[in-house]
Amino acid sequence: TVLGEQQNTFCSMLLTQSLSVTVHFSFFHDNVSAGSTMEVDDRLSHLEQRVQLQEDELQLLKAELADALRRLGYCEELTQPGAGAGGRRPTVAPPTKMRQLLQALPSKPLTLSNGYVQQKRMGGYPSSPSSPKKEVSLSIKSVSPSFFIFINPSPSCSYLAPSPVSEDGYVRMFLRGRPVTMHMPDQKRDSYSLDHKGALPEHKLKLQWVYGYRGRDCRSNLYLLPTGEIVYFNASVVVLYNVEEQQQRHYLGHNDDVKCLGIHPDMVTIATGQVAGTSKDGKLLPPHVRVWDSVSLNTLHVIGMGVFDRAVTCVAFSKSNGGAHLCAVDDANDHILSVWNWQKEKQLADVKCSNDSVLAAAFHPMDANLIVTCGKSHLNLWTMDGNTLTKRQGLFEKNEKPKYVLCVAFAENGDTITGDSSGNIFIWAKGGNRISQVVARAHEGGIFSLCVLKDGTLVSGGGKDRRMVLWDHDYNKQSEMEVPEAFGPVRAVTEGKQGELLVGTTKNTVLTGSFPETLNPIVQGHTDELWGLDIHPSMEQFVTCGQDKQVHLWDTNSHQPLWSKTIEDPGRCAGFHPSGAVLAVGTMTGRWLVLDADTRDLVFMHTDGNEIISNIKYSPDGNFLAVGSHDNFVYIYAVMENGKKYSRVGKCTGHSSFVTHLDWSVDSQYIVTNSGDYEILFCEPLLSKRITLMDLVRNVEWATSTCVLGFSVFGVWPDGADGTDINAVCRSHDSSLLASADDFGKVHLFSNPCSQPRAPSHTYGGHSSHVTNVAFLHDDSHLISTGGKDTSILQWVVA
Ligand SMILES: *[C@@H]1O[C@H](CO)[C@@H](O)[C@H](O)[C@H]1NC(C)=O
Ligand SMILES: *[C@@H]1O[C@H](CO)[C@@H](O)[C@H](O)[C@H]1NC(C)=O
Ligand SMILES: *[C@@H]1O[C@H](CO)[C@@H](O)[C@H](O)[C@H]1NC(C)=O
Repeated sequence: TVLGEQQNTFCSMLLTQSLSVTVHFSFFHDNVSAGSTMEVDDRLSHLEQRVQLQEDELQLLKAELADALRRLGYCEELTQPGAGAGGRRPTVAPPTKMRQLLQALPSKPLTLSNGYVQQKRMGGYPSSPSSPKKEVSLSIKSVSPSFFIFINPSPSCSYLAPSPVSEDGYVRMFLRGRPVTMHMPDQKRDSYSLDHKGALPEHKLKLQWVYGYRGRDCRSNLYLLPTGEIVYFNASVVVLYNVEEQQQRHYLGHNDDVKCLGIHPDMVTIATGQVAGTSKDGKLLPPHVRVWDSVSLNTLHVIGMGVFDRAVTCVAFSKSNGGAHLCAVDDANDHILSVWNWQKEKQLADVKCSNDSVLAAAFHPMDANLIVTCGKSHLNLWTMDGNTLTKRQGLFEKNEKPKYVLCVAFAENGDTITGDSSGNIFIWAKGGNRISQVVARAHEGGIFSLCVLKDGTLVSGGGKDRRMVLWDHDYNKQSEMEVPEAFGPVRAVTEGKQGELLVGTTKNTVLTGSFPETLNPIVQGHTDELWGLDIHPSMEQFVTCGQDKQVHLWDTNSHQPLWSKTIEDPGRCAGFHPSGAVLAVGTMTGRWLVLDADTRDLVFMHTDGNEIISNIKYSPDGNFLAVGSHDNFVYIYAVMENGKKYSRVGKCTGHSSFVTHLDWSVDSQYIVTNSGDYEILFCEPLLSKRITLMDLVRNVEWATSTCVLGFSVFGVWPDGADGTDINAVCRSHDSSLLASADDFGKVHLFSNPCSQPRAPSHTYGGHSSHVTNVAFLHDDSHLISTGGKDTSILQWVVA
């Protein structure tokens, strides 16, 4: 025993000594600016020399240590009972303690990347912001990501891989001129080749649900179809939603934001207009109108490619001539009104409509040659004669001229009805331009929508007052109700089933109900930029949080929020505890909170720095929480009392730019992070220790794969990528698939791992702005994707 203790003391002494050498390494302070190669080369050669020196020292120490251990082991064996007489084996097997100590030694000479001890720098940093954000300030823009592979690096690249690590295998990719080095697991080293072709995944995605409605800035965009479906649009998807059956179908012909929708008098044919977009390779996607069949979802005609300039914001079919014509307004400076024979895809007439914004255009129900447009300070009546459109201006005469005429509808007798920003309803007799009746101050604030019901009564919907008012044939008020404040002002009103009304709001909600009862939401969503997404660990649920300060917990079967909660700060990221009992939300202000997943009660709140919390993730064992921040740090908390209490136990430092993504290892021992300047760092969070010896982490199994930079995912980067092109990736739980969210509105599905350059993928449109996040449901049955500016949530079936 005495000898054993001596051994221990001796050995720990030796180990400490050897470690103290490594402590002196502190040069890996990645301050390598991409700008000056000269400086970099100088520094590298200087570092190389130092490394060589220290390496020699280490070799010496190690040799001594090994020798000492061997001798001690020999002593120990000699003192063991029964040893000696009973025939000693020729090779002395070191006893257990010795073996452990020997194993704890690095198996090969320590190299350049070893020995960085993070604690040394803790506290030395200014709290935040710590270092300049380099994300977009880099001047070097690579034409295409270039790949290099160093399975057996040649001497020419030895400045990065000195001889001791020559057997290391890694792939290097350049993003904006910055090298990104990605180490491969040992298992791949022999077989890996950059030339292998990646395979397409066996599975595909099918859009199943769109959580969202565009009410914020579009009008007259909600209708009931004879199929029992309601039709509206979100992002570039036109949604056909059967509320009773909880089914959605989708028209996916558009490649960017849909802005308007018109229904043919046959109630089957639909026209939708879109904005001008830009494709991934910078090509213009021209604005146009698509005419399609709402039963088969087949596209019948595409109209106005190359004719429209900016965005088609109004579209309507004629009514009295069998719906043969279609009118459209382009949101360009001149607001061109054009009339089309849509079946022949032929333009019949066009005219400059107004210098000011045009909000609505509609054919008169009884006169196919009369079109009414309205908008800023105007109501215009256009008569079509051959290919000319002649304007008559609506005369307000002694009546208050409104700032905006916001909406137009037609009474059964052919009178034109308008609602305006002053809250007045004007009746214009039978296609004329003179006001015949006034309902003054029908609403407090603007009238956003008018709808004549089948029985000839009129419903008006208010902006500021959020009221819905029912008027009889003589415009006497019959009934009214109010849209709850949380759902916002009325945007569109249409007649639903059995006397029910469908109401779209400017807060992107669709409600249903009838006078004088209250209204119930059937479509809800976020209203501002959306990034935060995580799936429930065991149920068909996911959580989202956005800049609108809303947190929603969604049920993927009912497609409704199980709960919604307003928080104090704009949300940015979310993460479920593995138990599913609580979930954490990171905000834009450095504050993060923990909510009870059942009751949505706030159970904990804390602030780290004052910058965006970009990532918040519990360790797989549920004992720790990692909080990744734009202040370049990852804060580590111990989780106590079932997720109700937290105490800081560590901090991962070392990034010179903001933390963008992070993953925990399966055993909850390691964290890998990506940063805004494309660094990949590894950390042992409980020791607050950065790991720079790649052999320690190259074979680590990661519980999730959300880092966009890494050997198992780098194939998602497209040609010409600039480093911000991929916003998120996610591996399926069975590890067969990898989904990515790109900056061009596309969701991609790859085979996992995705380690061949420019790996092939299935690509899916639907979002109309950058896709910010993707996540597979716990059973991999579905993928959820979130859109940044389009604020939409799409749910895809993995089939
Ligand atoms: C990076 O290097 C430059 C030039 O040597 C220096 O001015 C700057 O403070 C360094 N930045 C960090 C974060 O160390
Ligand atoms: C999509 O729906 C969401 C949620 O209702 C809404 O906030 C957003 O504005 C819509 N976006 C587009 C581009 O249609
Ligand atoms: C539009 O503006 C131009 C120049 O400002 C003016 O000449 C023209 O009359 C205006 N057109 C309409 C329809 O108001």
